[in-house]
Amino acid sequence: MCNTFLEGVFNRSLNYVTAVVAFMIKILGNEMITKLCAAGHALGWLILGFTTISAEAAQPLQPVELRCEYLANPVGIDVVQPRLSWVLTVKPVNGLGRLFGSRDDSRGREQTAYRILAASSVAKLAADQGDLWDSGEVASDETAQIVYAGVTLTSRQQCFWKVVVWDEHRRKSAWSDVATWEMGLLQPQDWLGSWIGMNLPTPTGDLAANPAPFLRRDFSVRSGIKRARLYASGAGSLELHLNGQKVGGNRERDPGYTDFNKRVLYVTYDVTPLLRPGVTNTIGAILGTGWYDVHDVAVWGFEHASWRGRPRLQLVLVVGYNDGETQVLASDNLWRATSQGPIRSDGIYSGEIYDARREMPGWDEPGFADDSWQAADVLPAPAGKLTALRCPPIAMVKTIIPQAITQPQPGVYVVDMGENFSGHAQLIVHGPAGTKIQLRYGECLATNGMVDRSSISEFMPPPRPFQTDAYICRGSGTETWEQRFSYSGFRYLEVTGFPGQPTLDNFRGRFAHTDLEPAGEFSCSNEGLNQVQRATVQSYLCNAQNIPTDCPTREKNGWTGDAHLAAEAGLMNFHSAAFYTKWLDDLKDNQLADGHIGVIVPTADWGLGDCQPAWDSAYPLIAWDLLEYCGDRRILAEHYDRLRLYVDFLAGQTVNGIIAKTDSLGDWCPWSTETPSQLTATAFFYEDARIVSQAAALLGHAEDAAKYAALAEKTKAGFNAKFFDATNNSYANGSQTALAAALYFGLVSPARQSAVLGNLAQQVETLGHIDAGILGAKWLPAALSAGGRTDAAYLMVAHANQPGWIAMARDSKTLWEQWREPHSRNHIMFGSVSGWFYQWLAGISSDPAQPGFKHIIIQPQPVGDLTWVKAAYDSIRGPIVSNWSRQGGRLTMDITIPPNTTATVYVPAENEMSVTESGRPAAKVPGIKFLGLGRGAAAYAVGSGTYKFSSLVPRCL
Ligand code: BGC
Repeated sequence: MCNTFLEGVFNRSLNYVTAVVAFMIKILGNEMITKLCAAGHALGWLILGFTTISAEAAQPLQPVELRCEYLANPVGIDVVQPRLSWVLTVKPVNGLGRLFGSRDDSRGREQTAYRILAASSVAKLAADQGDLWDSGEVASDETAQIVYAGVTLTSRQQCFWKVVVWDEHRRKSAWSDVATWEMGLLQPQDWLGSWIGMNLPTPTGDLAANPAPFLRRDFSVRSGIKRARLYASGAGSLELHLNGQKVGGNRERDPGYTDFNKRVLYVTYDVTPLLRPGVTNTIGAILGTGWYDVHDVAVWGFEHASWRGRPRLQLVLVVGYNDGETQVLASDNLWRATSQGPIRSDGIYSGEIYDARREMPGWDEPGFADDSWQAADVLPAPAGKLTALRCPPIAMVKTIIPQAITQPQPGVYVVDMGENFSGHAQLIVHGPAGTKIQLRYGECLATNGMVDRSSISEFMPPPRPFQTDAYICRGSGTETWEQRFSYSGFRYLEVTGFPGQPTLDNFRGRFAHTDLEPAGEFSCSNEGLNQVQRATVQSYLCNAQNIPTDCPTREKNGWTGDAHLAAEAGLMNFHSAAFYTKWLDDLKDNQLADGHIGVIVPTADWGLGDCQPAWDSAYPLIAWDLLEYCGDRRILAEHYDRLRLYVDFLAGQTVNGIIAKTDSLGDWCPWSTETPSQLTATAFFYEDARIVSQAAALLGHAEDAAKYAALAEKTKAGFNAKFFDATNNSYANGSQTALAAALYFGLVSPARQSAVLGNLAQQVETLGHIDAGILGAKWLPAALSAGGRTDAAYLMVAHANQPGWIAMARDSKTLWEQWREPHSRNHIMFGSVSGWFYQWLAGISSDPAQPGFKHIIIQPQPVGDLTWVKAAYDSIRGPIVSNWSRQGGRLTMDITIPPNTTATVYVPAENEMSVTESGRPAAKVPGIKFLGLGRGAAAYAVGSGTYKFSSLVPRCL
């Protein structure tokens, strides 16, 4: 009570002083104050002093960027106890801090308590009535993964929430802005309608017999609508329309891809603005085959999927009125359907055939005569459980202007989009009715200037259509068209049958991928590495297609190895935790009863039935990444039994602690030296056992923790017994990957650590480049850096020719499948290097002992010819910045540590005497604690805030 009173007096006094200062600034103006200061005038300094003091002392922490289950204001989630998070910021009072261009200098800021209110209406929340949940004041420094613990949430419940926090001085923030989340349909009985579609014959490669059903239904709503939600599930893909407008804006291929026997996704759209009260409304749907009804025959066998069926949908439109009444419209056999629409075929691999002469203007609006349509067929529900999509949707995110057009053969035009991407080509054409235009998509050109797709042929031999569309003109007006249900990976578009001579204006590229929010930025003085960074981001997005894929061009498969190698880069460059959370559910669904996981997930059954730890370890590895990057313990709890089952399965595949299989997938796509796959598989097995042991410890399963730790130790012993070459301090055949695997996973005995590291560094230095595949590409830079040899890692990563990342990125602006002339030019599996940029060149990582960036490690590495690095990472606890530059022998580091976190900052320096922070000896600055000197750096413990360190760079760097 007394505290609160004093706090009030203190804050009010400061506010008063602040107001006076603000008034004087207004009267005098900034320039005048600066002049007064320059002239040594006391008034200027007085105001400036007050400004600084008030800016520091009077700024309570403010919670912003509220999220629920990693998403901003999600609609239609089905996690019944969702997790909430926020980020803390220091708001300058009246903007005073900014007036002098000063930084926010407040440091060591902490949250000591929070209170969350969740209410069923904005009004209740505004009146501070948490009728759903009032957490009360919770003494805690936690800002993420806070589990909702209010009243049991029911279907469609809207939750409005806000949070207030107390800082280290027990000062209270203002309430945050209001955020929301909304529940989806939680009970099977909420789905009042039926699954509907058209009972058409199953296509068997004859594309003409694969029309996409169009469905429609008229209905009316009255006035006084409060909110309307459309809950829609589709097996295959869905495009919904309401009163002539596409539902969901730029979203596409909803609801997403799963093993339809296990889970079928649904999405929730806010359609309130699309309804027209008092008149007839029309809802329409187009059904695509997607991954449910794959008829394209290819090696992966999706055409044999046991879940396969004709496309179908189930939806419920719930209209809530202001007077409390609810109106429901569901999918049933009162819907009308036709197979006579313009989409004559769609295939996820093959492409689409669209006959615009068959368009049905007004089909999705009231008044359309649907007499020739038939009643929709009620179809059986897919076997999987209806589950809400829990990550951002796929969306058409960017329109690309093509760069060039050529005519390599009479009547064949090749459009160069200027970049390799995933999505569609948009065709804009005027042409006589019936003109058939063919579009073929590819990544590169043959010597004759035609689009070269030979690398795809082994998977889908011609004449099977692959990434090929046909558009047949309707013959009136400007016709604009692009694929709806398929997507292609391409840079070049080959066009035949175009009426007349096309120009660039007849085409656009449309980049479509899971709509992930950027989280990181990295750049440095080596332009080659910047190209690699941009290429990684591009390839990562191209391969984010509701699942992490290998390539958008050829396979579109969720290759597990590719996914785990790129996951850390993905988590640093994008807010991708929700995306991986969804895919971990896919991995869980995919696991067989014996613990076994397929190499592609989802799979129809291709790639199942084999022991492939280097790929399947995606399951434990990504679950663990989510703990490290986001502090996500729940994911470990949810998957714990399955992760254990997986490790038990692997244990059953070992002899003397070694994975027995000698030909499992290993260091795929190496440069010239191969590494025995038994070594890499066993290294993964060791890591998997360690993860399960640590997860067990975190979750309180002490017995398991000990059991799996013992298994890991046994594996380590077996690994060293079999592969360690004590004479040469080497492993197996001494390949870069073999040594890096042992170092990266901590398999080397401490006594041999530096000898093995030295051996690896020397190999790299002698060769001057990487000689490894995708596994080595992740482990080598990380292992060298962790051992203090970022100089050798940099030499390898900055190598400008083949084999190297720069050579790939320079040519195609995407990453390749191989170091050499590749089959695919848009694979993400070499993209792990971007994670290394952040973790080592900028030096931003999370302390494993306090995961989710609660304690941050900053350890920049000014190596080689690098003169500067800039990196920012929007962590789950707020933005972290690590910028450094080097001039002569001096290094300057600009660091930002978010409020409520702490950091250990390693400042490269010969000795601590040369280290300053904002011009003062660093060790003497209040709030900065010198921890010691080691490995060419002085270590300091700091709290949150912005710091400018400067040092004399050690001579060895
Ligand atoms: C895929 C890869 C994958 C590999 C493993 C390839 O065809 O494109 O990315 O990891 O096979 O066998």
